[in-house]
Amino acid sequence: MYLTWINEKKINNLSWVEGRNNFARKMSKKPINKVLEKYVYLSSKDTNYILTGIKKLHGDIFQGVGIELGAGVAIFSAIISKMSRNKKIYALELVPDIVKIIQPKVFKRYGNAKKAISVLGSFDDIRLKNNSVDFIVEYDSLHHSFNLLDTLKEAYRVLKPGGKIIAIDRVQPNSLNKNLKNRLLNNKYSKDWLNANHYDLNKKLSRKMNGEHEIRDSEWRKAFKSAGFKNISITHFTRPSLKFFAYSILTMIPDFIKKRSKYSILSAHPFHHVFQSLYLRQPEERNIGKYIGYLHLMKNKKILSKNIIYAVK
Ligand SMILES: C[S@@+](CC[C@H](N)C(=O)[O-])C[C@H]1O[C@@H](n2cnc3c(N)ncnc32)[C@H](O)[C@@H]1O
Repeated sequence: MYLTWINEKKINNLSWVEGRNNFARKMSKKPINKVLEKYVYLSSKDTNYILTGIKKLHGDIFQGVGIELGAGVAIFSAIISKMSRNKKIYALELVPDIVKIIQPKVFKRYGNAKKAISVLGSFDDIRLKNNSVDFIVEYDSLHHSFNLLDTLKEAYRVLKPGGKIIAIDRVQPNSLNKNLKNRLLNNKYSKDWLNANHYDLNKKLSRKMNGEHEIRDSEWRKAFKSAGFKNISITHFTRPSLKFFAYSILTMIPDFIKKRSKYSILSAHPFHHVFQSLYLRQPEERNIGKYIGYLHLMKNKKILSKNIIYAVK
């Protein structure tokens, strides 16, 4: 069972929706943990770990009625639906076959299917009343918005006064220059990636064509503020590994050198910010807005950082 908040005909002709629909159909017979690994690069344990860190930082914000924006496979909604103080969570996603085929399996395996509700729709048109939800959460989906401010205004509308939003998303450093930003967006996916994600191998698909945007720290803050939010903070959970620190040092190479090197599309937060992760390990209130070396216990070693944007209506 799922709710429909959009006319399905309107979305199926978007090329990236087609790719993700294919993914859902081709992966439908695979074990659900494998589907999670491929779509969201997280296990249920990793997801739980991130949510526990967020609760330690910002308190138990997942109480009452919530909505997950761009929920994809909806592992976040599943885990939140198991929390005793959560009443209900809508998992809003635009790709029809992800909603119809994958989400029910995720809820059955990891969630409480009575409290987690799949919704086919867009985060730009949330069919809920003004001031009706207690919290909003999203994982790596808002940077896909074609108009971040409009999407955030819609989120603000449905939140109750005092309600919280948590966006776990890509946050580029303010130092990201225009050239590097363009290189990142125009970068084409490899054949291996296309194959692994069940996209058409004959298409040259750039990250931009796949709906990606690169949003700097100051741009996120400005958009949240303009939408009406207050108490905005961005905290960084990091994996304090050699690779992580090496990237943060390499990212400071001047662009005219970097663009000709194998690091031409490397973007990381600079070392003079991230070195905090060496000694800060606790996601607790006094560390809000800082770089916290918290991800070392996560299984997927490729995950070097997660940015936690928090704001209040
Ligand atoms: C990179 S994935 C993020 C992973 C996803 N949160 C998950 O846990 O599986 C981005 C998700 O946002 C969805 N999305 C993009 N634009 C959307 C929109 N306008 N409304 C709802 N979902 C959208 C995509 O279909 C995709 O599933």
